[in-house]
Amino acid sequence: MKKKNLIVFGTRPEAIKMAPLVKAFQKQHEHFETKVCITAQHREMLDQVLSFFEITPDYDLDLMKPNQNLYGLTADIITGLKPVLEDFHPDYVYVHGDTTTTMATSLAAFYAGAKVCHVEAGLRTHNMKSPFPEEMNRCVTGVVSEIHFAPTTTSRDNLVAENKSQESILVTGNTVIDALEFSVNKVKSESYKDHEVEKLKELLDTSRRLVLVTGHRRENHGQGFINICKALRQLAEDNADIEIVYPVHLNPNVQKPVYDLLGDIPNIKLIAPLSYPAFVWLMDQSYLIITDSGGVQEEAPSLGKPVLVMRDTTERPEAVDAGTVKLVGTDATLIVSEANKLLADERAYKEMSKLHNPYGDGKACIRIVDHISKN
Ligand code: UD1
Ligand code: UDP
Repeated sequence: MKKKNLIVFGTRPEAIKMAPLVKAFQKQHEHFETKVCITAQHREMLDQVLSFFEITPDYDLDLMKPNQNLYGLTADIITGLKPVLEDFHPDYVYVHGDTTTTMATSLAAFYAGAKVCHVEAGLRTHNMKSPFPEEMNRCVTGVVSEIHFAPTTTSRDNLVAENKSQESILVTGNTVIDALEFSVNKVKSESYKDHEVEKLKELLDTSRRLVLVTGHRRENHGQGFINICKALRQLAEDNADIEIVYPVHLNPNVQKPVYDLLGDIPNIKLIAPLSYPAFVWLMDQSYLIITDSGGVQEEAPSLGKPVLVMRDTTERPEAVDAGTVKLVGTDATLIVSEANKLLADERAYKEMSKLHNPYGDGKACIRIVDHISKN
């Protein structure tokens, strides 16, 4: 009898990090029946990823609403998954990371009696308000999961400290590195043409150093984003030789302050969210990255790019410890002074530009599939 897998995700980063797992299980179709369910907590930003990885979901809950709230979204995911779980009866349900999709799906799968498998398990800041609500989401998911796929030994140790049994945890590396390798290989192939990259080449002023920015965290909405925009404006004014490129997240709480406060500055280019390969290409072109994203903190060290993180806490301490990622919070003065230091001081810049792979070796999905084969 084939084991039945249901892989569920809803947002851009979950899709990027689960896509290689979908591919890895689909290759083993003689042993597994694998179906994909998307909650579509995100819509356009999710569809961009599905299209690049050529994944057609078996179930699409199509839940995204403009400016959605956590109450409605959580309820809609749980009730939306009931018929899917009753139709497919999966043995294993795979969730990723720390979004509302992750937490609500893990609860629904637990109600259905499936084994919940948590990919990217064990990340913790130990501060329930930062990131909000993600720290709670991953703790709840950890409680109902039977198998924890931890990306690093640090995340394994966090789970052990919460009394999860050693046998329920496997250190795999982060699947984001599998995704990054897939992307780089696909982009290199003869037949691949990326119109977004071609458009970016026309847009970029190659005589200036590229500072790439992303930001979206809920705890930064409001004053945090006003501070971030002030800092970016100041940086652009201080450094005529840089160009800031910011693919702006579609959340209206991000779009509004960013376009209102930064829409009129000649060396700041605000653009729509990019497809994954185009964003990876842009990271590779950049001199410095300023972000509050989780995934970008994991990818940038593999490309040797220094990162300033606009958050007070991080659940990804490995690159901070290695000195290639630095936390700067959302204090405008600190963001400007740290960025200016890297732009002016070559030695400080070189120290932060080490190429290293603390988050994985590109084989995380193979380890997960092997583990489930033996389970
Ligand atoms: C969500 C996750 C966050 C994750 C982030 C990745 C939660 C609570 N938040 O935050 O953990 O880091 O995704 O990007 O799970 N929108 C669109 N089109 C899209 C996507 C979003 O228009 O493709 C707009 C919609 O108005 C939507 C809003 O953004 O209602 C917010 O989306 P939501 O998923 O609730 O929050 P994010 O800030 O994207
Ligand atoms: N990303 C992308 N297009 C963009 C910006 C980011 O494909 O325009 C990718 C990025 O490479 C990373 C992921 O999206 O893999 C990060 O997503 P996000 O910052 O939305 O969420 P987080 O990782 O913070 O949960």
